[in-house]
Amino acid sequence: MLSTPLPGGTWTLGDLTVTRFGYGAMQLAGPWVMGPPADRDGALAVLREVVDLGITHIDTSDAYGPRVTNQLIREALHPYPESLRIVTKVGATRDPRGGWPPAREPEDLRRAVHENLESLGLDVLDVVNLRLGNAEGPQPGSLAEPFETLVELQRQGLIRHLGVSTATAEQVAEAQAIAPIVCVQNMYNLVYRQDDELIDRLAGQDVAYVPYFPLGGFSPLQHSALSTVAARLDATPLSVALAWLLHRSPNILLIPGTSSTAHLRENIAGADLSLSEEDIAELDKLGH
Ligand SMILES: NC(=O)c1ccc[n+]([C@@H]2O[C@H](COP(=O)([O-])OP(=O)(O)OC[C@H]3O[C@@H](n4cnc5c(N)ncnc54)[C@H](OP(=O)(O)O)[C@@H]3O)[C@@H](O)[C@H]2O)c1
Repeated sequence: MLSTPLPGGTWTLGDLTVTRFGYGAMQLAGPWVMGPPADRDGALAVLREVVDLGITHIDTSDAYGPRVTNQLIREALHPYPESLRIVTKVGATRDPRGGWPPAREPEDLRRAVHENLESLGLDVLDVVNLRLGNAEGPQPGSLAEPFETLVELQRQGLIRHLGVSTATAEQVAEAQAIAPIVCVQNMYNLVYRQDDELIDRLAGQDVAYVPYFPLGGFSPLQHSALSTVAARLDATPLSVALAWLLHRSPNILLIPGTSSTAHLRENIAGADLSLSEEDIAELDKLGH
């Protein structure tokens, strides 16, 4: 275990405490999140290192692989440490070409929750996000039917807490009118800041905002102004991007993905970077 606390401290999802520095497991599957990883032992080693370094929040989905990532998590870490929280998502499946078609009919969601329980080897899922939208991002429309299906599964004791993903601000509010949510997982990073208002609103409600693609996703962030700030701080641009997110709002939880233990350690160290008011002001100009 790491003897010093992870950058950012902790956050509470409902009644579950997690480190704000978490881990996104999507990149552990094969290319474009399909099939097994090229380096299976390496993927298992990353997951063990995540826990050894004191991270208590792993983000996953049975659609990664599909099933591959959840099975790796189970193989590497089951029986799970008491403190570990695994957050999964349902609402999309995979097609043979690697697409992510929606699967939000009540029977799709019931099946997906049971499949996640089975592949992760759990009796109850800590947090389940309802994934909305499509490859272009959030799409308008009511989430009532699929969200109510998850609420029903929660009442049955299969899910502790609910969240939504790839959601519009209106869908977040609609979900909250139906049942409490503990997190929203949307795309957001230093240069892509569509959700600024939503993050501030959720912070006031003690609801976590969990940005996906915190490092830019499949093409890590590159920006000349970001490189300039990073060079001045003698840090990497990705460290600055993570440190900026932790600074942006206390309800932001990090789930950067990596298939490398070296990158995992580098990202933890990098997120601890302190940013001055001048750095923040310069970085704030990069958002759109
Ligand atoms: N809700 C949704 O719809 C949704 C969508 C996408 C993702 N997610 C979640 O969000 C998590 C994070 O997203 P992500 O993993 O796609 O993107 P990301 O965290 O923005 O970036 C991951 C990429 O950055 C690279 N990387 C990480 N650390 C690095 C370092 N120190 N130096 C150089 N490269 C580095 C990784 O490559 P290496 O493997 O080589 O380190 C990987 O290619 C996912 O794991 C998943 O759990 C959710």
